Amino acid sequence: MAYRITPLTAHTGAEVSGIDLSKPVDAETKAALNRAWAQHHVLVIRDQKYEPGDFIHAAQVFGELQPHDKKDHHIPGFPEMYYVTNQEFLGTRRMIPGETFHTDHSNHPAPPKATILYPVELPSSGGDTQYANMHLAYDELPEATKRKIDGLKAVHVYLSKYSPRPLKPLNEESQQALPPPGIHPLVRVHPDNGRKALFMNPVRIESIEGMPDNEALDLVAELMAHATQKKYEYRHQWRYGDMVIWDNRSVLHKANPDYDMNQRRYLWRLMLKGEAPIPVAQAA
Ligand code: SIN
Repeated sequence: MAYRITPLTAHTGAEVSGIDLSKPVDAETKAALNRAWAQHHVLVIRDQKYEPGDFIHAAQVFGELQPHDKKDHHIPGFPEMYYVTNQEFLGTRRMIPGETFHTDHSNHPAPPKATILYPVELPSSGGDTQYANMHLAYDELPEATKRKIDGLKAVHVYLSKYSPRPLKPLNEESQQALPPPGIHPLVRVHPDNGRKALFMNPVRIESIEGMPDNEALDLVAELMAHATQKKYEYRHQWRYGDMVIWDNRSVLHKANPDYDMNQRRYLWRLMLKGEAPIPVAQAA
C-alpha cells in the first residue's frame, strides 16, 4: 500500500496519507504505523470515511479496545464507542469534555495507552485539540528537578478534590465498575520508545505519596506550567476525515472551547488498553 508519513512538527505529530484503515492492512504496514506512532506520539490519518464498525476496525491496528468509565454514554450498539460533544450541561454549565490539559483515565491502575477521535460534526472554525509533548518537557527539566521527581508516585482518583474542572457524575452502574485508584510514577518510561515522560493529570491527582497536599499541589502546578509551554505543543486543526490517535503515555491533551457554541462539535471516541506505567527505577 503506497502511503506517506510526514512529520507535523519537529517533536510531535505526523500526518499519514494514502491509506484506508477501514480495509485490512498487512503485518508490515501495521508494524510501520505502530513504529511511527511511538516516534511521533500523535498520528493524523487523513481522508478516512467511517461507519462506527470501520472506526473500531481501524483503531484495532494499534491495539485492543478499552471501554470508557461512563457506561451510559456510548453509540447505540457499540458499547466501547464513546463520543465527545459540546451539547451537554451540568446544571447550567456547558460541559466541554477534556477542556483542560490531562491524560485519559489515569485513575485506572493500567490507564489506556491511546485515545482516538473521528469527527462527525465540527464547528466552522476553532475547536482544535492541543497536545503537549511530555517526553520533551521532561528532558528539558533542570537535573535537580529530575532527581526530585523521578521516584515520586501520585494517587489518581476518578475526580480529584483539587480538580480545576468538574466531571459529570457517574451513574450507579459506572460507579460500581470503577477500578481502585491508580498509583502512578510522576515520571514514566515508555515501553516502546524507551523515553521518560512526565505523567500528570490535575483532574485526577489527589495526592503525592509522602508529601503534604499543599506541597504536592504546588509541585504539580509548577510542572504543568513548564510542561504546557507552546514550544512543546502540536495543535490539531480538525478536518473531516481525520482519524487522530494519540499516545497518553507521551502527551497531555485538551479540547479548545474557542468556537461558537451554537455550532455542534461531535466526535466519536475510542480508547485502547494500556499497561501499568513503568517507573524510572524499574527501567534503569
Ligand atoms: C478528550 O479530551 O478526550 C477530547 C478532546 C477533544 O474533544 O478535542
